[in-house]
Amino acid sequence: MPPMKFKAVIPAAGLGTRFLPATKAMPKEMLPVVDKPAIQYVVEEAVQAGIEDVLIIIGRNKNNLSNHFDSVPELEDKLRAKGDTSKLQKVMASSDLADIHFVRQGEPKGLGHAVLRAKAHVGTQSFAVLLGDDLIDERDVLLTTMLAEHERTGAAIVALMEVDPDQIHLYGAADVEATDNPDVVKVKGLVEKPQREDAPSNLAIIGRYVLSPAIFEVLERTQPGKGGEIQLTDALQEVAADPTGPGVYGVVFRGRRYDTGDRVDYIKAIVQLAADRDDLGPELRPWFKEFAAGL
Ligand code: UTP
Repeated sequence: MPPMKFKAVIPAAGLGTRFLPATKAMPKEMLPVVDKPAIQYVVEEAVQAGIEDVLIIIGRNKNNLSNHFDSVPELEDKLRAKGDTSKLQKVMASSDLADIHFVRQGEPKGLGHAVLRAKAHVGTQSFAVLLGDDLIDERDVLLTTMLAEHERTGAAIVALMEVDPDQIHLYGAADVEATDNPDVVKVKGLVEKPQREDAPSNLAIIGRYVLSPAIFEVLERTQPGKGGEIQLTDALQEVAADPTGPGVYGVVFRGRRYDTGDRVDYIKAIVQLAADRDDLGPELRPWFKEFAAGL
């Protein structure tokens, strides 16, 4: 059988209320992380995993997001005339990355509803969902393992990460059972944003999924859940609970992840990524040490 060809779907139509007022006129996925918008890292991750076709679900404030992945001839011409190839490459990198498409989610009715907007574009192929404000460090592997696990099992694959039990109410939590592979678990059930005492484990769903198009049929009948939103977790719970279907598996991620939709994690992401960079780290690291010593 030839290897499967996956598309990527990146929902970026949430209201981003935790980041107001920065997100009043700009999606949170466009907030810069060092010198690139968060969503560019996410598109790069999909491309790194071999995906060439990316669909971004956009909401209000769609223009600056779609403009970012478009070419800007007047800026490119200026940089070319100046012979500034390094900056020219930076400008062109985002428009040359992949075959990028956009579809509008008219109203932010939840992540499940946003994913459902991808139905026509995705067609009959399996696809990956990458949340546009959730960054996985490029030095750590996650999506490639998830795609391979989907090809092997045909199941819906979620990314799971151990979180502090005090934080589990911010995530979907998974009830799991071990498999022969220490990095893969069978998901028996999922609960969206449970209280600590109701959580089946401290394994939280983070923003990567690999799904077959069968999920659309489930999403079409999924009723609004937590927060009055159509939750992808609720649709996946139905898949996990169906004894006749391929079920849900979780790939346990133990690498570096940054949630740029949260203010504290956003600042940590910038500090960590900048400190590790060859062009910025040497100047920043001594300053960070001095600054931390004075706290
Ligand atoms: P979040 O719950 O983190 O996004 O959704 P939010 O609602 O924008 O954030 P806050 O809590 O108000 O700050 C997870 C992902 O799903 C997308 C978001 O853009 C984010 O990538 N999303 C959420 C949609 O695309 N549409 C929706 O209706 C809801």
